[in-house]
Amino acid sequence: MPRDFRFALITGASSGIGAAFARALPESTDLLLSGRNSERLDAICEELRVGGRVVEPLAADLQDPADRRRLIGRAETLEIDLLVNNAGVGQFGAVLDNDPAGEVATVEVNCTAPVELCVSLLPGMIDRARYQGGKAGLINVSSTFAVQPVPYIATYSASKAFLLSWTESLAEELRHKPIEVLALCPGATRTGSAERAGLRGEVPWAVEPEKVAREGLRALGRCSVHVVGGASRAALAPYFLPRRIAAGGLRAIMGFASKTAKRS
Ligand SMILES: NC(=O)c1ccc[n+]([C@@H]2O[C@H](COP(=O)([O-])OP(=O)(O)OC[C@H]3O[C@@H](n4cnc5c(N)ncnc54)[C@H](OP(=O)(O)O)[C@@H]3O)[C@@H](O)[C@H]2O)c1
Repeated sequence: MPRDFRFALITGASSGIGAAFARALPESTDLLLSGRNSERLDAICEELRVGGRVVEPLAADLQDPADRRRLIGRAETLEIDLLVNNAGVGQFGAVLDNDPAGEVATVEVNCTAPVELCVSLLPGMIDRARYQGGKAGLINVSSTFAVQPVPYIATYSASKAFLLSWTESLAEELRHKPIEVLALCPGATRTGSAERAGLRGEVPWAVEPEKVAREGLRALGRCSVHVVGGASRAALAPYFLPRRIAAGGLRAIMGFASKTAKRS
């Protein structure tokens, strides 16, 4: 059973893992759900608004500084005590062949936005938790791609490496404060995001987004980094290899996948 928070902000809640987080939290937790697609956000809010529960949609583009400030303002007003930085994007393919705007978007959505949300919202969350004698929560959704350089999805994997490293440092800095901090590293998850990034084909060991959300909420407060699923933990193998060998091996695998994706 996930811990009982009062009010949660989940970014990227309009689909995939973010929507699964919204569904996995208990009915006693009110929700501020964000994403760009208002229609999908409204539908999820409608589904989860039961028994007087407050479930509020806020359509915002995390690449837009004004939208980020609007989201932060609303989250402060609602006095959230759980922040889930889940929104993420990425492009598959060689960096210099990809859409340059998409590469920049990857850094803004996966790195800039979570940092800005954390530095703006965490002080208030910690103060309120201290005053109320409870604990706030932070989950930053990274990836198993964070632990090594991954050619042909380089900007995405580097953005997730940033988020993992930053969250681990933050967890140490906040160790004695009333907040639990988790970097969550899912492996392949069946959400359609890989296809949207340009990757074709099913990953046989991919897990459902519900499992990722459930494990994330269970891990919060128990550890500062959690890798979802046994098969995903095997994806950490390159972590233990010399960096050049790991990057070279992944270049071969991802280069093949990139050529296959272009042919189909
Ligand atoms: N699926 C996997 O295999 C996998 C593996 C490891 C880690 N992850 C990570 O898990 C997280 C969720 O991914 P997912 O698989 O659930 O992907 P998804 O279904 O594509 O969901 C991504 C979410 O991010 C939001 N988003 C994207 N760009 C945005 C922007 N500019 N402003 C605001 N929101 C934006 C999307 O909202 P709109 O569509 O409404 O804009 C959507 O709700 C991501 O951080 C991803 O990197 C996924």
